[in-house]
Amino acid sequence: MIRKTILIIVFISLALTGQAKEGMWLPVLLDKFNIGDMQQMGFKLTAEDVYSINHASMKDAVVIFGGGCTGEIISPEGLLITNHHCGFSAIQKHSSVSHDYLTEGFWAMSRQEELPNENLSVTFLKRMDDVTEAVLEGVNSELPMVKRDEIIARNIKSVVDKALKDNGYSAHVEKFYAGNQYYLFVEEVFTDVRLVGAPPSAIGKFGGDTDNWMWPRHTGDFSIFRVYAGKDNKPAGYAPDNVPFKPAYHFPISLKGVNEGDFTMVFGYPGSTAEYVPSFHLQMLINDVYPKLINVRTQKLNIIKHYMESDPAIRIQYAAKAASISNSWKRWKGEIKGLNKLDAVTRKQQSEAEFTKWVLSDDTRKRKWGNLLDEYRTTYSKYGEYSLARSYLLELIGRNSMETVALAGLYAGLVDLVERNGVDDAKVQSLVTALRKRTDSHFKDFYQPVDQKLSPVLLNSYRTEVPIVFHPAVYTEIDKKYKGDTEKFVDQLFQKTVFTNHEELMDYLMNLQKLKKLKKDPAVKLYQSISQMYHDKVMVGYRLYHDRLDSLNQIYMQALMAYEPERHFYPDANFTLRIAYGDVKGYEARDAVYYNYFSTLEGIMEKDNPDIYDYRVPERLKELYRTKDYGRYEQDGTVPVCFLATNHTTGGNSGSPVVNASGQLIGVNFDRAWEGVMSDLMFNPNQCRNISLDIRYALFIIDKFAGAGYLLDEMTLVE
Ligand code: ARG
Ligand code: ASP
Repeated sequence: MIRKTILIIVFISLALTGQAKEGMWLPVLLDKFNIGDMQQMGFKLTAEDVYSINHASMKDAVVIFGGGCTGEIISPEGLLITNHHCGFSAIQKHSSVSHDYLTEGFWAMSRQEELPNENLSVTFLKRMDDVTEAVLEGVNSELPMVKRDEIIARNIKSVVDKALKDNGYSAHVEKFYAGNQYYLFVEEVFTDVRLVGAPPSAIGKFGGDTDNWMWPRHTGDFSIFRVYAGKDNKPAGYAPDNVPFKPAYHFPISLKGVNEGDFTMVFGYPGSTAEYVPSFHLQMLINDVYPKLINVRTQKLNIIKHYMESDPAIRIQYAAKAASISNSWKRWKGEIKGLNKLDAVTRKQQSEAEFTKWVLSDDTRKRKWGNLLDEYRTTYSKYGEYSLARSYLLELIGRNSMETVALAGLYAGLVDLVERNGVDDAKVQSLVTALRKRTDSHFKDFYQPVDQKLSPVLLNSYRTEVPIVFHPAVYTEIDKKYKGDTEKFVDQLFQKTVFTNHEELMDYLMNLQKLKKLKKDPAVKLYQSISQMYHDKVMVGYRLYHDRLDSLNQIYMQALMAYEPERHFYPDANFTLRIAYGDVKGYEARDAVYYNYFSTLEGIMEKDNPDIYDYRVPERLKELYRTKDYGRYEQDGTVPVCFLATNHTTGGNSGSPVVNASGQLIGVNFDRAWEGVMSDLMFNPNQCRNISLDIRYALFIIDKFAGAGYLLDEMTLVE
């Protein structure tokens, strides 16, 4: 009898927690929407513990790390943990062949050894407020869009100005629910952030691009930084005598580990999702944009990887670039697969048909929303073209592509500025300083044969994949002067350009009078041809249709909310602080394949393969494995490495704290399972899984592998 009751209880609780929880929720609305649900799932804290403006709360320990990641504070002395891939460019910038922190790892053995990082900041949220009323004051649905935008921009400015009244913070307003709600964010930005430690890439990036987006995963994807402040604990630019920042809150760290079914919460900065778009949007991505972008990136990766494998110095130079090209490339493939598996387009079409029925059954609704989907259809048919051209042009001169031409573009900007303002102008001087740095870092990570090989391939593929109306004038020149031989054109360019010559460029920056000569440089000319097409044609159309979609989205969102008045809609991710909650759980990847919820050191040893770069296990780790020197990080005779949970996360959530029912840190979020990545566009409860680093593995590496156990002394460990 007792057995049976237990079984029933187990069954009921499994049923309650059985599915992934869709949604990325606003911390200020937890009280209203989620806290009951969360507590029912096991969460032991209150909404105020998570987010409060009256006393210290978890939100005081969650930061935007750099430009696009999350990080969290784990000690009263400003120690911060984020992902290895989030700290990657900082680590890479400190690396060279003689002290190669990517390969060797880096550990400061004292505060003096912590390394400052230019252009790295962390941002703390002080508070967020619903300012919808103030922002929409004077706006009504009769106003033309331009007028509406004008009023909104003016209102936003006055909201921000008011928030900034001499408190040293920064502030911005973001739109939610496609512009039906607005929130003000008041933040404090720290710019003295120092590198404390990073495992070697063979741990921090173990599995590399091969395992990226996949389970089972064994990546020790973390790095450690410290936030520094002035003596008043306020933000200050880098200075040797700055002191460690004293945060209002830091996360205690649990050593107790995770079990399947345990409550988990992820608190961080998801970047962008599009959950409420119409079927046309998915069709555009699946049928046209994604396949073409995947294709061009495949070509890029093949070339770059070929050179990386030929020489360790090139590997260092191109490691970050290749990882970033590969990341979206692989996710796009997963999204297409996942959306098709869900039959997402048909599903959207079906719900659109039902929505339309509802709209047409009432005259007022018909007047307001009767044309909505038709307007979407016509707008997407144009938007799709411009969107593809825009993305593809960016694949040519942005996104680590034709690097010489991109560099030339920056100098072309300087030439223009000098012509307008003269050489003594302050703006010119500051651009010169910036360009000097930029040029140095460009050449540090530049290997000409890669660029020379890539450039014609990219130019040719743009030509075949993008409609002729979007072709820059340079193609005519290639046809006329080079009989269509793009390679020849590019070879000539590389022979003549100065943009492959570091010293000569530095010389130009010393002698601004000479700059005019650059106008004739073939790399500048190519840049200008591409940029002209981009600015004068592609972006004009793109903005036009993008703005139209913006306004359709705002109306559609309103309509959807009226259509389902009982439903709690969560706003699309927009790189503002959100909460996702769920539980620790494995998943069925495909027929007959069920994935367990955690991975261990055993799996690292299983993958070990000295012939495959991504699977080389460091000797020291093997030694710890042989001697079973696991200390307090051991569980069931091994060390846990990563775990899966059902939290709804996306890009930007990397580095986010993953906490247990008591709010203690159990992991650091870093990825998602490939089968579930389409959850940015349509959620799949059965396969949406976030991948976290088990915090015990991070501590094990710091303590046992790196011998930097002194760092643990300042943490709050819960055994
Ligand atoms: N997929 C993860 C995220 O989107 C990790 C990316 C970094 N790792 C890599 N191998 N490229 O950012
Ligand atoms: N890896 C991603 C990031 O860098 C997280 C994700 O997409 O799940 O934010």
